[in-house]
Amino acid sequence: MNILYVASEATPFAASGGLADVSGSLPAAVNKKGHDCRVVIPLYKNMKPDLRASLTPLTSITVDVAWRKQYCGILTTIYNGVVYYFIDNEYYFGRDGMYGFYDDCERFTFFSRAVLEMLRYIDFKPDIIHANDWQTALISVYYQTLYRYQQGFDNIKNLFTIHNIQYQGKYGTEVVNEIMGIPMYHSDLLMYDDCVNMMKGAFEAADRISTVSPSYAHEILDPWYAYGLDRILINKQYKLSGILNGIDTNIYDPEKDPLIPANFKAGSHVKGKKICKEKLLADLGLCEGDEPVVGIVTRFVAHKGLDLIKYIFEEMVDRGFKFAVIGNGEKIFEDFFEEMARRYPDRVSVTIGFVPETARKIYAGADMFLMPSQNEPCGLAQMIAMRYGTVPIVRETGGLRDSVKDCGGENGNGFTFKTYNAHDMLNACLRAQALYNDKKEWKKLVDFVMKCDFSWESSSEKYIELYKSLLGS
Ligand code: GLC
Repeated sequence: MNILYVASEATPFAASGGLADVSGSLPAAVNKKGHDCRVVIPLYKNMKPDLRASLTPLTSITVDVAWRKQYCGILTTIYNGVVYYFIDNEYYFGRDGMYGFYDDCERFTFFSRAVLEMLRYIDFKPDIIHANDWQTALISVYYQTLYRYQQGFDNIKNLFTIHNIQYQGKYGTEVVNEIMGIPMYHSDLLMYDDCVNMMKGAFEAADRISTVSPSYAHEILDPWYAYGLDRILINKQYKLSGILNGIDTNIYDPEKDPLIPANFKAGSHVKGKKICKEKLLADLGLCEGDEPVVGIVTRFVAHKGLDLIKYIFEEMVDRGFKFAVIGNGEKIFEDFFEEMARRYPDRVSVTIGFVPETARKIYAGADMFLMPSQNEPCGLAQMIAMRYGTVPIVRETGGLRDSVKDCGGENGNGFTFKTYNAHDMLNACLRAQALYNDKKEWKKLVDFVMKCDFSWESSSEKYIELYKSLLGS
């Protein structure tokens, strides 16, 4: 099968979050199974120079953005067995940063249209276009309204994946005519709650909708999780499903990882993990000693459950936990962690910002990994932590629920709690601490956690099944 995987970011070319990890690893896994999955992303300014130098120009074309005619360069490269295409336009993408500009609607409308136009000029005809998140949502809308009857565009199926339903691409109605250039008689595809909602457009126009865990696929039918889109999704349930993400187990490999102080593997982790923990404590200025170190690697935003952590934090410090925190985001949480680090300098460390090396050292050196999200479409951090033998403590939601099972039951690989409540979270942490103090049992648990398979092996197979079922439909 030929699949064109479209996203606004992909590791290593452009990355700001989990989406980049997925678009940087799923296509390669699909290709290993004998398909041709190619990736297209915008060409942003801030690409590492060596990667930028590896791109070859293919051609340049003109793309309509309503009444405007815009330049569009197309570049290409092969990376990790995957052909990548890059959509170039200085005006739209030659800026510092990827999102958050006043004209994001126009920038990604251009991108979506350019992806379809590009198909006229490359020697690749996709059977499926797999678009991801609101930035690419217009592709299926354009396909159904303007392209499907054009020569060379027949019989392309559209899959749209939701990585986070909170970001929908919502704008005033004028953009349909002014920016998208979609005929007004098709505008009902995009309209929702008196706004243009690009994600909703994809829900209407794509042949299938998927999301990044089975549990999240259910949860987003509920207003508590859906940020307003539950009403439309309930109608589109027949084409909605969830597939748990995987992680790139070659990048995240405690046996080979050059970024961590000592390598280790399941079955013989004790020595290596101990060195990683000691080095982590020393690097972060935390006191030595055997008490459990809790790692937190996250964006500082409310839906990551930081208010629960904030509420119970000092009690946890009193009860003997140490904390290694890294992340950035809302000031209220940055200030909070900084204050805690000032108050308990030898027990709490916070790194504001995102330093991948430090994050990796926390994954490897911490004993437990805390992720009490309010909602979590999939979550990759808990899987990475587990790969490094760091036991997750999570709330049972979305992909956290699908990847972590509580140790109180069979095949437990972590500690979980259900209700969004700080004391329920504390209780899960205390159960983890109790097991941690039983060194023999803890060692067994860490080995088991490390053996859990979060590679793309089985998830890529599920995507292939979904692709196949699309072509059969
Ligand atoms: C988004 C979600 C996260 C998911 C990632 C990749 O960032 O918030 O839960 O793991 O996308 O799908």
